[in-house]
Amino acid sequence: MSDANRSQAAARAADPAETRLRDEIVRTGALLYARGLAHGSAGNLSVRLDDGSILVTPTNSSLGGLDPGRISKVTLDGTLLSGDPPSKEAFFHLAVYEERPAACAIVHLHSTGAVAVSCLCHADTSNVLPPLTAYQMMRVGKLPLVPYFRPGDRKLADAVRAAARDHKAMLLANHGPIVAGRTLQDAVHAYEELEETAKVFFLIGNRPSSPLTCEQIDDLQRHVPS
Ligand code: 13P
Repeated sequence: MSDANRSQAAARAADPAETRLRDEIVRTGALLYARGLAHGSAGNLSVRLDDGSILVTPTNSSLGGLDPGRISKVTLDGTLLSGDPPSKEAFFHLAVYEERPAACAIVHLHSTGAVAVSCLCHADTSNVLPPLTAYQMMRVGKLPLVPYFRPGDRKLADAVRAAARDHKAMLLANHGPIVAGRTLQDAVHAYEELEETAKVFFLIGNRPSSPLTCEQIDDLQRHVPS
């Protein structure tokens, strides 16, 4: 089947909700690319469908120019149902969905500030950014460092699974963040907050800073819906 026919077939087969999500992935990819958060063919996005399968961006695709009909549809065990070959990271997306039942979308990018944090030495890998701002705490929370594994390595998916149990966001060492959300917009907002926090962290550098106190963080958790 030609690319154009495959794209049209997938579009015809999709129900209206799935069609909307395919379009949202395309729009979101373009937005992230335009904002400079995605570059080249790095990064991948996914959403969970009602039947438990996921839509995930195809491997080696630019998030700036996705085709809704070619987005990969993959079952929970990683079988490709339709579309182009999926992201090599589809397995870590699936691991996060399994661990986080409320998550319906995942953003993984290689944005500059967060990647720079992922390349630093960290004494405490359970949380690699200090609690600098309220929105960082509200949208991102603690950010554990996941040990380095080659992109696409199933061992990476296992390590991501372990971190996802207690965290909506995590940072892959020498790689970049994974952020889960209830919706794609929710995940994007959290991802952007993380990237901006990473930039603030570097702007502060070695200057004396005053991170939020434990009481302030508790207060946020009690009073502000995340
Ligand atoms: P894919 O092109 O297979 O999605 O991989 C890109 C990436 O960001 C690897 O981490």
